[in-house]
Amino acid sequence: MKTPKINIAIDGYSSCGKSTLAKELAQELDYVFIDSGAMYRAVTLFALQNGIANGELDENKLISRLAEIEIRFEFNTSSGASDVFLNGDNVESEVRKMQVSDYVSPVAAVKEVRLKLVELQQKMGINKGVVMDGRDIGTVVFPNAELKIFMTANNEIRAKRRFEELQSKGEKPSLERVKANLEKRDFIDTNRKADPLRQASDARVLNNSNLSREEQLSLVLKWIEEAKSTLA
Ligand code: DC
Repeated sequence: MKTPKINIAIDGYSSCGKSTLAKELAQELDYVFIDSGAMYRAVTLFALQNGIANGELDENKLISRLAEIEIRFEFNTSSGASDVFLNGDNVESEVRKMQVSDYVSPVAAVKEVRLKLVELQQKMGINKGVVMDGRDIGTVVFPNAELKIFMTANNEIRAKRRFEELQSKGEKPSLERVKANLEKRDFIDTNRKADPLRQASDARVLNNSNLSREEQLSLVLKWIEEAKSTLA
């Protein structure tokens, strides 16, 4: 008998390694990995491209133009994960830039943006077999996910990881700027009114400050087996 597919929800603070874990799990299980943050980043890029986030975010203007935004994912065989597309253009690397990071949390705090993206995300999970990472996946997008993980890691470690990631992509922000951006995003993501970052009551906490990627993966694979064994 084929083992049943489940949905796995991974939430947590910025730069805890959520996407890295989600991608590894999807490869291991032959599931679909969806980086929901990339969708909020794509909306932010649209706002930047259209003068809607120029110094300050013009919320009403963004809301009035939401219908013009089409976001989809396409599998990239060389990276082994999906690239995000905004209105037909591959924007996978552009959405990772610091300028997008600087505006993304205010954009993600707009209720209308969330309604649009949550609906899309829920459709993607209908057939199960999805590993999705974000801030509200276990609480709002997949409240019935068979496994929910809440990731944390020490602030210094997170900033260093993010700094190294940006450097490897040719960006050169200071470590202080990266750390300040992480702390600011955590604050906005946790304190916004619409779907704030919260640990679901039934989530398993994963603090990976002192775990290697291999240790983390084998721990979570064990959790997945446990979650599957409780299915009817
Ligand atoms: O995971 P990330 O850093 O790429 O996410 C970018 C921003 O998008 C983050 O600051 C919060 C927001 N976000 C969100 O509000 N809800 C999600 N499900 C995913 C991301």
